[in-house]
Amino acid sequence: MTDYRELNARLQSLIEGVPHRIANLANASALLWQSMEELNWAGFYLREGDRLVLGPFQGKPACIEIPIGKGVCGTAAATGETQRVEDVHAFPGHIACDSASNSEIVVNIRADGEVVAVLDLDSPRFARFTETDEEGLEAFVRVLETEWKTMS
Ligand code: SME
Repeated sequence: MTDYRELNARLQSLIEGVPHRIANLANASALLWQSMEELNWAGFYLREGDRLVLGPFQGKPACIEIPIGKGVCGTAAATGETQRVEDVHAFPGHIACDSASNSEIVVNIRADGEVVAVLDLDSPRFARFTETDEEGLEAFVRVLETEWKTMS
């Protein structure tokens, strides 16, 4: 199980005072990748207008653009709700970037109330992500949200 208190403290100390968004998201994805078990993808999509564009990540090369409203990521951004999907094969419109993925969680990142990015984690294990992971990852993105406007 992931110790989110520890993880989120590590994120805070990694990004504190660093004004570079891409660098911080790259380190955040590396931190998740090395700290969490049973992941096959961990990273970010950044909002550009009506689509999400691939950002820093760990894992296999992934699809570059996702329209808002499509796939698990686009559904999270469109609804404003975290998507925790136990079986991606049963999710209508799921976009399969890595055939190893069986479950997924997508958490929105907001600035001034608007979704500016999403955090996406994929796992080869069905129902890998629990309610505890959902709460921990929502706290993880709050660390990024707090610093978001100090980064460019
Ligand atoms: N599965 C996602 C696409 C992104 S990849 O998992 C990295 C989706 O359905 O939005």
